[in-house]
Amino acid sequence: MYTSLNKVLKSAARFNYTVGAFNMHNLEMLPAMILAAKKQGAPIIIQTSVGTAEYIGHEVIVSVCRSLADSQSVDVVLHLDHCTKFSEIKKAIDLGYLSVMFDGSSLSFQENILRTKEVVAYASARGVSVEAELGTISGSEDGISAEKAYTDPEKAKIFVEETKIDALAVSVGTCHGSYKAKTELNFELIKKLHETVDIPLVIHGGTGVKEEDIKFCVDHGIRKFNVGTELLVGWTKKATEMFNNTKENSSLRNNIVPCNELVSEVVCRKIKLFLNN
Ligand code: 13P
Repeated sequence: MYTSLNKVLKSAARFNYTVGAFNMHNLEMLPAMILAAKKQGAPIIIQTSVGTAEYIGHEVIVSVCRSLADSQSVDVVLHLDHCTKFSEIKKAIDLGYLSVMFDGSSLSFQENILRTKEVVAYASARGVSVEAELGTISGSEDGISAEKAYTDPEKAKIFVEETKIDALAVSVGTCHGSYKAKTELNFELIKKLHETVDIPLVIHGGTGVKEEDIKFCVDHGIRKFNVGTELLVGWTKKATEMFNNTKENSSLRNNIVPCNELVSEVVCRKIKLFLNN
């Protein structure tokens, strides 16, 4: 079913697992991601940046997600990742996304609350879920960089009560785009946030998280786990290898299918860990 974030995260909380949220960068990798979730019997969140949505076309991404969700009987959530502009959020919602992230992490606490509330009012009236961020997750993503600031649990409690968001992205030591070095998570902070905040928590920068730390995250309220760079780098490396070794008049699928297979393997492996069996 093509569904909203709220619905899949509720089930994840009930049965203590986390839902993988994977960033797509081109249309080719999309079916591989959804079919990998089907293979694991799990829901999946497909995320796009505004840039990817503009490049492929919001309507195209929505229709592929809807069509595969229905034909393959998989719960698919299409989510707009890290969006700082209300106009872009409105556009994604109006064109069929059922989940959006408003990223007001660069704003003051008060301004972040006010702007997030505006987004929640628009989204919730249309059955769309909202993720927001408090604290700042460092690193660089789709050309946007930020410096780390941990999420304060007391502020997080106020933020969630005031804004009525569906999920909170927390800064607990991860950073975007880290694929060579691994992250040192702040376990105490994750624990504290789980005790203080009663909505699903979100890990960003999932590529850099050690796979042995995933269980701790799931057992302490992380219900959405973002992974982007591992797919991007894997796809790109495999494409480089294939294009360098294949005749130039060979069908493109001979080069692209192995890249998608790699995506499928990564998504399957992560989902197995996220299911926390
Ligand atoms: P990585 O690219 O570091 O896995 O992070 C993905 C992410 O958090 C998307 O918002």
